[in-house]
Amino acid sequence: MNGRAAVDHLPALHAYLDDPARQDSVRAAAVAVVEALAAAAVELAGVIASGPLVGITGRDGAVNPDGDTQKDIDVVADRLMRDALRTAPVAAVLSEEVELPETLDAEAPLCVAIDPLDGSANLANNISVGTIFSIRPKARDILSTFFEPGTAQIAAGFFIYGPQTVLVLALDQRVDVFTLYPPTREFVLTGRGVRIPPDTPEFAINASNRRHWSGAVRGYIDECLAGANGECGRDFNMRWIGSLVAEAYRILVRGGVFLYPADVRPGYREGRLRLLYEAHPVALIMEWADGAASSGRARILELSARTPHQRVPLIMGSPRTVRDIDMMHEGVEPLFENADAPLFARRGLFR
Ligand code: F6P
Repeated sequence: MNGRAAVDHLPALHAYLDDPARQDSVRAAAVAVVEALAAAAVELAGVIASGPLVGITGRDGAVNPDGDTQKDIDVVADRLMRDALRTAPVAAVLSEEVELPETLDAEAPLCVAIDPLDGSANLANNISVGTIFSIRPKARDILSTFFEPGTAQIAAGFFIYGPQTVLVLALDQRVDVFTLYPPTREFVLTGRGVRIPPDTPEFAINASNRRHWSGAVRGYIDECLAGANGECGRDFNMRWIGSLVAEAYRILVRGGVFLYPADVRPGYREGRLRLLYEAHPVALIMEWADGAASSGRARILELSARTPHQRVPLIMGSPRTVRDIDMMHEGVEPLFENADAPLFARRGLFR
């Protein structure tokens, strides 16, 4: 197969972004941010691919402001991404690895929230990891920018460092996919206007936490597990990668639903994932690809953070499924309701 011939016919990222860059100054700035991050992602993909050969040990280091243990690759990724953002029109960046937003150029028009390396604990197992970013116009001041709802985002995306390095980009109300072509170090367009299938019988959840979940979540998953023998009358497939970018990418390709709900474990009562640099950007991607994202009780994009590293429950994927799970939360106490209690028994999805 002649790979070069195929790639010659695909638009490169920088050429593809010419059009949005011409629309207005805010979009031109967002394009500059995406290009800066893409250049850093090419570097990071190389470091990840070489791993121990370039001194990446995967060893634990300090604990980041959010309580996660930092790996050496987290520190490298954070440096690469923040250095890249210094070359772009960015007023401030909030990184997972830093407690508060860092001011870059206070006069610049945009603010960025970023998870430089999501899922880094997976790297030791050679499982896909990624960089997630969210871009929003600077509001009246830098801090209040990050406390606006997710609907304030003008673009968002993630890079996934897997068998291929891929950029999923939400810009101008659409979602496109670009694949890195290593010989030229360029991202090229490989998926135009992605659309999530409306209703795929596949779910992803860390099932080891079942005993900690709310009744609404337990009820939904139990109905999936009952499959064709249960009230939903069809079999479901299950996946759990433990890497948000990989789960989001799978949903973009074949639909289904992902849940990281709140649960009763200490530290998980607001879920695990972070609103500003995980849930908000993937929710924008889901919605602009015809999917949905919810906390079970509210649309993720309508939520505002109260603190920079705030967590949130996240349910995302095929729109009908997300709507069904939202319905199961209706009228049920927020958490800790007993799945077997009479109230919950009336709230089944298929009865
Ligand atoms: O937020 C980091 C992350 O690794 C996500 O990418 C992933 O969805 C989640 O945590 C996995 O969490 P757990 O190890 O609790 O299943």
